[in-house]
Amino acid sequence: MSTPTYSIALLSNSHDRKSFHSGSEPLDDYFATRVTQDIRRSLTKSFVAIDELDRIAGFYTLSASHVVLSDLPPEMSRKLPKIPIPVARMGRLAVDEKYQGQGLGGALLFDAIIRATQTDIGVYAVIVDAKDELAKGFYEHFGFIPFPESPLTLFISTRQVRSIYSG
Ligand SMILES: CC(C)(COP(=O)(O)OP(=O)(O)OC[C@H]1O[C@@H](n2cnc3c(N)ncnc32)[C@H](O)[C@@H]1OP(=O)(O)O)[C@@H](O)C(=O)NCCC(=O)NCCS
Repeated sequence: MSTPTYSIALLSNSHDRKSFHSGSEPLDDYFATRVTQDIRRSLTKSFVAIDELDRIAGFYTLSASHVVLSDLPPEMSRKLPKIPIPVARMGRLAVDEKYQGQGLGGALLFDAIIRATQTDIGVYAVIVDAKDELAKGFYEHFGFIPFPESPLTLFISTRQVRSIYSG
């Protein structure tokens, strides 16, 4: 069986969002009914993986955000100034059921991390919101660390990204 190939693009009106099903109702509902409103209001951007038949195989959302020093583990926060710390938030990530378990979730996460950390603005870390313990395990698999007080939110610092992903 040949490996499917995908292209990653900004979500646009030409994409058919209604046929996307990840098996997570809140994520599917958000993607079908609310993501475009958030995009119009510049609250988020959404990127989609498109298969060879132009179907949406996966998506993620990316927004600017911040964390406060007390959110971070003490060994990190004590080296930082006492200001809101700028981060990029990947609020949602989902892969269509047809494509799960084939590496696409990891590829989308990698794309988001690179996009978020290779920008012209300061981004201390990428944070993600895991919907449950299973999703948390997925992010930990890629080096994300849970926030001490809210373990379903996880982060990876831009410094860690450089050391892990720059090879
Ligand atoms: C979670 C989700 C995005 C993962 O996408 P996927 O395409 O199925 O995952 P991949 O095939 O890319 O897996 C990549 C790696 O993560 C590992 N992995 C997958 N799920 C994992 C989990 N829950 N815990 C630990 N590792 C996990 C895989 O074993 C694989 O490891 P490898 O690179 O060593 O082979 C997808 O299953 C999904 O959309 N689920 C429903 C919505 C959801 O839970 N979203 C999560 C954000 S809240």
